[in-house]
Amino acid sequence: MTAMIEAKNLSRHFGPIKAVENVSFSVNKGEVLGFLGPNGAGKSTTMKMLTCFLAPTSGTALVCGHDVREDAREVRRRIGYLPENAPLYGEMEVGQFLRFVCDVRGISGKDASSAIDRVLGLCSLSDVVKQRIETLSKGFKRRVGLAQALVHDPDILILDEPTDGLDPNQKHDVRTLINGMAQEKCIILSTHILEEVDAVCTRAVIVANGKVVADASPNELKRRSSSHGAVTLSFEEVPDSSVSAALNGLAGVREVREEKLAGSRVVYTVLPQEGKELLSLVVKEAESKGWQVTDLRLELGQLDEVFREITS
Ligand SMILES: Nc1ncnc2c1ncn2[C@@H]1O[C@H](COP(=O)(O)OP(=O)(O)OP(=O)(O)O)[C@@H](O)[C@H]1O
Ligand SMILES: [Mg+2]
Repeated sequence: MTAMIEAKNLSRHFGPIKAVENVSFSVNKGEVLGFLGPNGAGKSTTMKMLTCFLAPTSGTALVCGHDVREDAREVRRRIGYLPENAPLYGEMEVGQFLRFVCDVRGISGKDASSAIDRVLGLCSLSDVVKQRIETLSKGFKRRVGLAQALVHDPDILILDEPTDGLDPNQKHDVRTLINGMAQEKCIILSTHILEEVDAVCTRAVIVANGKVVADASPNELKRRSSSHGAVTLSFEEVPDSSVSAALNGLAGVREVREEKLAGSRVVYTVLPQEGKELLSLVVKEAESKGWQVTDLRLELGQLDEVFREITS
């Protein structure tokens, strides 16, 4: 399959600042690529180069085979872009603004009306179609930004923190929207919400200091977490020391961590030795000793742990 987006040694310097340095990756149709990294890592700058808002200092990117340095018009035609702090015309009503975006995109008449109706529905904006954008709340403005990115039903979506400022219901709706479109499109989104990566991304690229430091599926990344394969047991009341002693005594246990929570709750994290499986052993032990466990689970690993380990 030929990639829909191919970044090749993309670099962008601002004077002495190397915002993006030799970034390469490719994204195919059906993929949702999560772009992660600390503040200032170069995510937005990379997105601006992919969407022809900023010229690369060196390197380039191909979007559906079109070079961002030579063919900006063709590139922009194929992309829907939600920038961070999406600039909107505050004095326009939502409906007027979307019609304006249709004009710019060369969509007119009935096609424009049906495109606008479609995105108003997708982004839950029908109730505010007559409201001036400057009077909308932050979350609604974000949804208008998303609507303008979708109006021409592009094959490629580049979304810079699409759920930033949305309430939990709206976050959920936007993730559902992205999942619904994923098969048909090629999507890159940036986010600081790591659970979002689990919810919508098929792949995650982590950048730090302008460079790619990881490129893998969310599950592969989680397997690199030190808590991968651990078993956690929660207790409402701190049990006597025999519990911790018994856990420490199980075959294949590398370490038992104890974390006290609010009230008198406590969580034990039982970490396995390399390649060892602990779940069934721990379950048997808990059953045979009659422990009053409120929660017992196998940890698949945590993205935030991996993120911290890789980027700090
Ligand atoms: N126009 C500019 N002039 C000078 N420096 C810039 C400019 N744009 C970005 N930078 C710098 O480039 C680096 C990368 O910024 P960028 O906005 O791409 O980061 P980011 O990963 O999107 O961060 P965040 O998570 O905070 O959105 C930062 O050090 C930033 O200060
Ligand atoms: Mg950014």
